[in-house]
Amino acid sequence: MSNLSVEEVKPLPLMAKKATGLFGRVRVPGDKSISHRALIFGAMATGTTMVKGLLEAEDVLNTAKAVTALGAPATKSGDTWTVLGRGTGGLKQPDGPIDFGNSGTGTRLMMGVVAGHDITVTMTGDASLSRRPMGRVLKPLRQMGLLTREDRDTLPLTVEGSSHLVPIEYVLPVPSAQVKSAILIAGLMAAGETTVVEKEPTRDHTERMLRYFGADVLTQQKNGQTRITVQGDAELQGRDVVVPGDPSSAAFLICAALLVPGSDVTVEGVLVNETRTGLYTTLQDMGADVAFLNEREEGGEPIADIRARFSKLKGVHVPSERAPSMIDEYPVLAAVAAFAEGATRMDGLAELKVKESDRLAATAAGLAANGVRATVDGDTLIVHGTGQVPGGGKVETHLDHRIAMAFLTMGLASEKPVMVDDTAMIATSFPEFRNLMERLGAQYTAC
Ligand code: S3P
Repeated sequence: MSNLSVEEVKPLPLMAKKATGLFGRVRVPGDKSISHRALIFGAMATGTTMVKGLLEAEDVLNTAKAVTALGAPATKSGDTWTVLGRGTGGLKQPDGPIDFGNSGTGTRLMMGVVAGHDITVTMTGDASLSRRPMGRVLKPLRQMGLLTREDRDTLPLTVEGSSHLVPIEYVLPVPSAQVKSAILIAGLMAAGETTVVEKEPTRDHTERMLRYFGADVLTQQKNGQTRITVQGDAELQGRDVVVPGDPSSAAFLICAALLVPGSDVTVEGVLVNETRTGLYTTLQDMGADVAFLNEREEGGEPIADIRARFSKLKGVHVPSERAPSMIDEYPVLAAVAAFAEGATRMDGLAELKVKESDRLAATAAGLAANGVRATVDGDTLIVHGTGQVPGGGKVETHLDHRIAMAFLTMGLASEKPVMVDDTAMIATSFPEFRNLMERLGAQYTAC
């Protein structure tokens, strides 16, 4: 991994050409959400946490550096990462600023960690991260006792924690697992019970893994809402974690197989927690031949092998309630929808505008550049599929890894090649993307 900031890295444009068939059984790297949490909870636990299958992408490596800087060294030996925990509330003042690179998850979860310690931490990030809203996390954390030196809600920020946090009950104004997690993490160090109420369920890896590490976390359904309560003054115990394959990375391989005639691809050992599988439900609605095989449980999470074969697809309506369970998959779904017959309407996409880029705008622009009619109406995206994609356009990725990968997937089945202006950011979440795709039969060339 390079130490250069994103602004200094030269763009790496790449072109995707029509492939003749994708075949094979592969594994994708570990889930990003679970990888961040394994490092963070390991740092907050008493004793040692050993992690196998950790995603070694820039976002997660920045979290490993962050916990190390806070006094809980995360190191790798063989295929195992070890975190030497400091105990809940036991992290120390870092020597300098901590750079979170491109990672919203790392930043927001670590804000929850810092909140419960008598330390002052300057948090920085790249150009994309420095534009993203942190107020959604800072607002509840400030209610609990966190202070910020600056009067703004974007990085760089210097945050001051406190060992005397106040527990709160907080209704999430946006469906965000990062916000939920930051509050629950701070709640571990507060005096009393902290409750987060969510109107729409979001990914629940924090709740699952905290229970596994010995925290008292209660999830209840009440009046159609989910209430998650964590007991403060918690003690976490270091554990062994096996990280399952990332369904958000598998999505590109699976979608490519559906689009390229003749393809038959299986991705093994993928996380299929239902808070993450909205894309797969949608693909099945579209008529895709995609199946979960050999379903099993590993490390408290459901996993399966996912098999996809080339399919004729039809346009569908994707309801807004499904958005949290596929929030990172809309760019690639939009690429798939372009090959379907008929319109695909995706509602409830407000959160897409505050990801690594404004993904709603970037996706619509990428489609338009490649001859696909797409309309944005408020928080709705409609892709007018005609069964084929002209291609031949250049996509602006705006420092967004998933925009790059979505259009490199689309180009494998479009009439003319699809170019993306920069693939450097793919290293933040899925460095093996190109290798794995090429192993299946994809063709990419520098341009
Ligand atoms: C994540 C939550 C989601 C998702 C992100 C990872 C997490 O973000 O987009 O890639 O690990 O909690 P939001 O919480 O902002 O929806």
